Amino acid sequence: MTDAPRKILVTSALPYANGSIHLGHMLEHIQTDIWVRFQKMRGEHCIYVCADDAHGTAIMLKAEEQGLTPEEQIARVQAEHEQDFAAFLIRYDHYHSTHSPENRALSEQIYLANRDAGHILEKEITQLYDPVKGMFLADRFVRGTCPKCGAADQYGDNCEVCGATYTPGELVDPYSTLTRATPVEKPTTQLFFDLPKFEAMLRDWLASDALQPSVANKLREWVDAGLQPWDISREAPYFGFEIPGWPGKYFYVWMDAPVGYMASFRHYCDRTGENFDDYWKADSDAELHHFIGKDIVNFHGLFWPAMLEGAGLRKPTALHVHGFVTVNGAKMSKSRGTFIKASTYLKHLDPQYLRYYFAAKLGKGVDDFDLNLEDFVQRVNADLVGKVVNIASRTGNFVHKFGGTLPATLDNAELVQSVQQAATGIAALYETREFGKAMREIMLLADQANEYIQARAPWKLAKEDGREAEVLAVCATALNVFRLLALYLKPVLPTLAEKAEAFLKVEPLRWQDADRLLGEHAIDRFSALLNRVDMAQVDAMLADSKDTSGEAQTATETAPTKQSKPKKKQAAPAGNDEPISIDDFSKVKLRVARIVKAAHVEGADKLLQLTLDIGHGDTRNVFAGIKAKYAPEDIEGRLTVMVANLAPRKMKFGLSEGMVLAAGPGGSEIFLLSPDSGAEPGMEVR
Ligand code: 2FM
Ligand code: ZN
Repeated sequence: MTDAPRKILVTSALPYANGSIHLGHMLEHIQTDIWVRFQKMRGEHCIYVCADDAHGTAIMLKAEEQGLTPEEQIARVQAEHEQDFAAFLIRYDHYHSTHSPENRALSEQIYLANRDAGHILEKEITQLYDPVKGMFLADRFVRGTCPKCGAADQYGDNCEVCGATYTPGELVDPYSTLTRATPVEKPTTQLFFDLPKFEAMLRDWLASDALQPSVANKLREWVDAGLQPWDISREAPYFGFEIPGWPGKYFYVWMDAPVGYMASFRHYCDRTGENFDDYWKADSDAELHHFIGKDIVNFHGLFWPAMLEGAGLRKPTALHVHGFVTVNGAKMSKSRGTFIKASTYLKHLDPQYLRYYFAAKLGKGVDDFDLNLEDFVQRVNADLVGKVVNIASRTGNFVHKFGGTLPATLDNAELVQSVQQAATGIAALYETREFGKAMREIMLLADQANEYIQARAPWKLAKEDGREAEVLAVCATALNVFRLLALYLKPVLPTLAEKAEAFLKVEPLRWQDADRLLGEHAIDRFSALLNRVDMAQVDAMLADSKDTSGEAQTATETAPTKQSKPKKKQAAPAGNDEPISIDDFSKVKLRVARIVKAAHVEGADKLLQLTLDIGHGDTRNVFAGIKAKYAPEDIEGRLTVMVANLAPRKMKFGLSEGMVLAAGPGGSEIFLLSPDSGAEPGMEVR
């Protein structure tokens, strides 16, 4: 490489210090780690930092629940997190905490710079207060109906259905998740970051190539809807940093969390002598890449660049956004055993299997990622064991039988050369995060090598007298290919690559080593590089992940957990349904209803507005997400079944007074339930 190495600072989102690392986190950290390892192998000056996100009410309450101080709680969790990530071969250059002196100093610096530049507003607002707990209810501890789309049971700061952000006070029908009490409004003075001032800058940023197109579009929608000043302060009691000059008020966790990226890097700089300002000054020539999930793009794509700009600092080079992890096509679920913690996985399976499976299916888009466990087993065995390792295991032993040294002469130099020539294309795929395509290229090369070995059959040649040189030339061909494949796979499978290096007796492989071959070279005895994976191990992991305390969150009205939101709901095996008592069931009043009128709803892609006759002269207005399947005229006059005593919900388009019942995952695969003919509107369904 003749150019000076690129300076690249890379981050993964900071996990909250109140829960375990699960496979949803692992997707992101593995994706980042692969990209970072690739850059390092290329000789770029790449630094990867992360930290625990240690502030906020959730962590404070979690500590309280455990009888710990918040400091004890976050130290404990961080140790666990670091252990899990290390076991998955994630190699940060530094892992820090947002509850650190560096983060306090930098958060204050960024706040004060913004304040001095006139970007901080003081406003008296009313905030929700839990009269039972005696505290202001920030963000996640108020739930209620989304003021934008009408989805029920959303968090107090953002909606997981439509992605809107708002203040808890804007929720419809709010309740405190701590005590279920209805919060009361109390006046307080808070600090706001003047986001609307940054609209022009943000529009330019959204038009740059820093963001994937679908992410830029989503963010543009928010900007178009009108930016609002962002509340960056919280009332005591709060676990975080007190705001300079504002005793009793704290920085909101999302204000100091992204600053945690800088804090972790600051600590790294202090340790290594790296120049901090080089990476953060406004005209920095270093790159800054954030890998994040699609649920937090507003924080990284709007607030964060604006805060940096407001403080006179650089903006990120790129956000790399990924989708949510589903398991076997459905959201991760404790009752199905598919809410898999990193530590549970590690008890049963080699981390490299998951690294490979993630790589094999990841692209540069934001689509959700389905971990299909049968496919996982099949792919790991077929590709890694059956293709890659097979090349070495079918040839390695013959080399030892005939002296242990590979000759420089190859039996098929063209094959080796074509594998060498693939280096550039594979590198381009890694660079653009098209890991799936890279893995397919590599496996095609492995297929060619296996076909070659099959055709030359060294095990047959070895039995014939006087053909030792030929056997060795075949093995040298195969093992040169194997070395190149191990090199290409090294960002994904570092342990396999290390074992290959030891077996081939070579120095740690760097990308540029693809230019050269082994030549005459003594190698070690072959020993197993990777074991096959067995479905029984996967089953044991699922059994181990099963929550026997029972978690059932499949109702369509309930927000899915953010790391595992499936694209659409899948048929769940009936055997896993959570039992409820007959008393619970009898609370639900189901009635036969006739759809007397069905109409399109202006501005709604999925909804039809239904007027239902439920007998006794009573009608109900219901919005139903069935438009992808039914035209209004197809269902007018038809009988169906509705939940008649569902509390009315205020939606963007009007009040919905119940719910019609339908089967199926949704979209166009939805099947409205109907009673047999003869049933009458108003009949109770039991
Ligand atoms: O969503 C989350 O899990 C946050 N803890 C991510 C923070 S990323 C960064 F901004 F700190
Ligand atoms: Zn919403």
